[in-house]
Amino acid sequence: MSGAKSVNQQRLWQRHADMAKLGGTPRGGVNRQALSPEDAAARNQLAGWARARGFSVFTDAIGNLFVRREGTDPAAPPVLSGSHMDSQPTGGRFDGMYGVLAAFEALEALEDAGIKTRRPVMAVAWTNEEGSRFQPGAMGSAVFAGTYRLDDMLAQKDWKGVVLKDALADTLKAAPAPMRDGPPGFSVDSYVEAHIEQGPRLENEGKTIGVVTAIQGSRRYIVTIEGEEAHAGTTPRAARKDAYAAATRLAAAMYEATTDEADTLRFTIGRVEVSPGSPNTVPGKVTFTIDMRHPRNEVLEAHEAKLRAIVAGKAAPCPAVIERVTNVAPTDFDPGVIGLVRDKARALGLSNMDMPSGAGHDAMHIAKLCPAGMIFVPCERGISHNEIENATPQDLAAGTQVLVEVLEALANR
Ligand code: GLV
Ligand code: MN
Ligand code: MN
Repeated sequence: MSGAKSVNQQRLWQRHADMAKLGGTPRGGVNRQALSPEDAAARNQLAGWARARGFSVFTDAIGNLFVRREGTDPAAPPVLSGSHMDSQPTGGRFDGMYGVLAAFEALEALEDAGIKTRRPVMAVAWTNEEGSRFQPGAMGSAVFAGTYRLDDMLAQKDWKGVVLKDALADTLKAAPAPMRDGPPGFSVDSYVEAHIEQGPRLENEGKTIGVVTAIQGSRRYIVTIEGEEAHAGTTPRAARKDAYAAATRLAAAMYEATTDEADTLRFTIGRVEVSPGSPNTVPGKVTFTIDMRHPRNEVLEAHEAKLRAIVAGKAAPCPAVIERVTNVAPTDFDPGVIGLVRDKARALGLSNMDMPSGAGHDAMHIAKLCPAGMIFVPCERGISHNEIENATPQDLAAGTQVLVEVLEALANR
């Protein structure tokens, strides 16, 4: 039997349901933020399933969790597939988790079909892809790829001041796995990540498989505005240094400056913190985040200059600074892997289309190490980063069928 025919739709769907209980929210989504107890529970779940199938499990110094199915040549660099198990605070049950469970299902399908591969095939759950609790996102894969320094990441703090190193230690204590010695990273032959599309194109076009060609570039910033706390009832306007009033001027100018006719540039202010957060005190400090994305680096560069000019020119009388916290260049995937995904989808009789990714993924970092690509499947109305995110068991299984065929081909090269 082929790998694709051994993909078990019911098992894959049930695994999603089991994982959705870990951090499950009343609206049917998940709150399983990076290095939380819910993240630890998901790690234990995956590791338990892996051990039950006789696969080996290990972690690394940033907490990436690996599952290994041995090849006939154990010394050959493995083929790797996976995604992330952490979620947005009000996340869906498929963003990230699908890529991990599809990779694990691919390992199980190879096992069930009795298929031997020359290279080992491995599944991975990368640490902190979302970057909503700890910045920056796609952290585990970036450390693995050598793009971010391990020590810098261990020192990151979440919004409440919890240091990542401590949260990671707690997580690994709650979800123990053998630790791979040395800094994260090892030789990988190739990488393929399955993911829900998180946008509406596949559904609108009636296609089952997205052959992902590229990921747009993304940058994140934090803007900090210093004001002066004062009494809300007594302080005249001229005497105020109202940090929130300044923030609204900056934000309005930024929305204006990032509105392009083609609607290609993506600009989001997703988190605003007003301090001290009291109704009758003029705000003394505001911080807000910016997430900005575009397929072309020079467009991001030009708009970053605009944002900086706005911060410099429109915050008075409040001092304001803008700090860039991530800058991930656009990624072009490997033509060989792209072609393989397209060919396998066609051979399985699955409708497909080439498309770039609007969302960021761990694959953007791993693509620097080895030939890489991605497989998208539709999600309902394109909705993601939302508890109502949904996908069908049939589409999830179809993407996994393509994945297992691609992994098998890569592992026998
Ligand atoms: C990942 O969730 C992203 O922000 O693209
Ligand atoms: Mn994701
Ligand atoms: Mn996400």
